Amino acid sequence: MPLHRCFNIADLRRMARRRLPAPMFHYIDGGADDEYTLRRNTEAFDDYELLPRTLVDVSKIDLRTTVLGLTLDWPVFLSPTAMSKLFHHQAEPAVARAAHAFGTMYSLSTLGTTSIEDVAAATPGPKMFQVYVFKDRGLTREFVARCKAAKFHALALTVDLPVPGNRERDHVTGMVIPPKLTWKSLLSFLTHPDWGLNALRDPSFEIANVKASRASGLQGTISLIGYVNQQIERSITWDDAAWLAREWGGPFVVKGIHCAEDARKAADIGAHGVMVSNHGGRQMDGVAGSVDALGPVVDAVGDRIDVILDGGVRRGTHVLKALALGAKACSIGRGYLYGLAAGGQAGVERALGLLRAEVERGMALLGCPDVAAITRGHVARRTPPVG
Ligand code: FNR
Ligand code: LAC
Repeated sequence: MPLHRCFNIADLRRMARRRLPAPMFHYIDGGADDEYTLRRNTEAFDDYELLPRTLVDVSKIDLRTTVLGLTLDWPVFLSPTAMSKLFHHQAEPAVARAAHAFGTMYSLSTLGTTSIEDVAAATPGPKMFQVYVFKDRGLTREFVARCKAAKFHALALTVDLPVPGNRERDHVTGMVIPPKLTWKSLLSFLTHPDWGLNALRDPSFEIANVKASRASGLQGTISLIGYVNQQIERSITWDDAAWLAREWGGPFVVKGIHCAEDARKAADIGAHGVMVSNHGGRQMDGVAGSVDALGPVVDAVGDRIDVILDGGVRRGTHVLKALALGAKACSIGRGYLYGLAAGGQAGVERALGLLRAEVERGMALLGCPDVAAITRGHVARRTPPVG
């Protein structure tokens, strides 16, 4: 199916499913345990209904918003996601270029397959680097120095992965890094020729910011869960977060906040923003959908720092509901990854173009000519049917 026949994120997901070998598709699509939180992230938006205002001049719609001291063309940016080369050979540079083309910020994961420097070289657009603190603590200091040199705009500390979530789909598909040719995966690669040919043309694969030369580098084939257990520090505390915020000295975000108490702690240690996030349902299963966790965090710190809604966004109306509930912006992961898998940079641009058009159309229908006009009065919790 050509990209122009994809009319929403769900169409791009279907295209991604067709183009990717099973281990790669399910690594994107899956969540932890029973995937309750994965489902709630998107379903929870249906528990809120929008309340339009009519006879408002919406001849001009201004989508811009300022978040983390940065003015974005529209209130959505790209969340950090690991190992984009698993999904398309154009990988992180393609995603970063698409984000720049659509006037928003790209986030590079510590576990990206492209280095900080190479992403910076790929696009002048605004970039955030997402930090996992490794047991090799020198790495974190190195990340900060390299991001300063590469003129990244912001740094995010992900705090909801002290241990990896139980991704049972990855056990079933045998997902390992780097991707391994086994009889089972060979069949899957052969039946997905687009992906398979590119993987054979360029089989190189590395966690680009953690050189294999170091003990923390990829040594041989390992499951992602195994690599995270092996390398990521579990003992970090708010003192480490405060140190990182000081060491960086720029816009600093804590990603993976579920509650008001932790949001206040993030503001207290100097964060400029929090991402209300459950890692896309990939970590602790059984927590609330992000949009349900949003309100108490906005009430606690919305007047001090930026609150970002991350998780489950697949429609422009999801963005509008989050903004009405007090989010300064939303961030997306799978929404652009399905596009990447479907068609590289062109696929990500398709995804961002569809979503941005939905946000713009939604604002006109809501009677909001700019983001500031979207208020708590534009959304209501759905009243469940009586009886
Ligand atoms: C992620 N996410 C993630 N988060 C993070 O802080 N560092 C990372 O390396 C990754 N890696 C990653 C890989 C894949 C394949 C996915 C789908 C997600 C989580 C991501 O940043 C974000 O929180 C969720 O993806 C948001 O939910 P949606 O938009 O995917 O529903
Ligand atoms: C994931 C980790 C790498 O969600 O953040 O797969």
